[in-house]
Amino acid sequence: MEVIIVKDNQEAGTVAANIIAERIKQNPKIVLGLATGSTPITTYQTLVKKCQEDNLDFSRITTFNLDEYKGLLPTHEQSYRYFMNQNLFDHININKAQTFIPSGIDLQDPEQYDNSIESAGGIDLQLLGLGVNGHVGFNEPGTSFDSKTAVVDLAQSTISSNSRFFSTKEEVPTQAVSMGLASIMNAKEILLIATGSNKAEAVYHLVKGKVTEQWPCSILQKHSNTTIIIDKKAASLL
Ligand code: GLP
Repeated sequence: MEVIIVKDNQEAGTVAANIIAERIKQNPKIVLGLATGSTPITTYQTLVKKCQEDNLDFSRITTFNLDEYKGLLPTHEQSYRYFMNQNLFDHININKAQTFIPSGIDLQDPEQYDNSIESAGGIDLQLLGLGVNGHVGFNEPGTSFDSKTAVVDLAQSTISSNSRFFSTKEEVPTQAVSMGLASIMNAKEILLIATGSNKAEAVYHLVKGKVTEQWPCSILQKHSNTTIIIDKKAASLL
């Protein structure tokens, strides 16, 4: 695991976007795995700039997002489809038909999502954030390392932390559809970003902790091509 320590989230976004841009130039038909949350917003802003100012070409890439809230329509302002459109897809020359996000509505056969990823040739580069409790995607502590895409229950701490985005408590989703840990580990390369002191404990378990399902992120120690970009605050327990 390569660890890159940066000053702050802004610099993390620049470093991550530079890596992603390099990979796109090397392989214009790259399959990217994408993440939501506040952490990768600066990465997406930098990628938008690279597209608009330096002609970075997204026209032939394919993307698969990690997760979506159960029950939210793609048009809901808190859905991850809405987030991706607002923060990235609406501002770059991507073919939206080649952007995939698990459906939070059609829950018949979530594992079909893994088949779609496989049919596209697998994920070349997977971008990840990190939950305070060590979750990746929405794979909460206790999730099996063998998990594939599935409907998952959110931890109480995740529900509470997400409640700030919804106007009433009742609206906060308690479940999501998430790529599983095995789905994520199948990616050829992983790039995880974590910034802020509230991520320090999870970063410790990610880099130095025992590999245990109690800290889902710890599975990444077993991946042969992982880079993590963390700021000084998130690195404080290493
Ligand atoms: C959510 C997402 C994760 C994300 C995490 C951290 O739970 N499902 O993919 O990594 O939040 O969010 P933030 O980057 O806002 O701290």
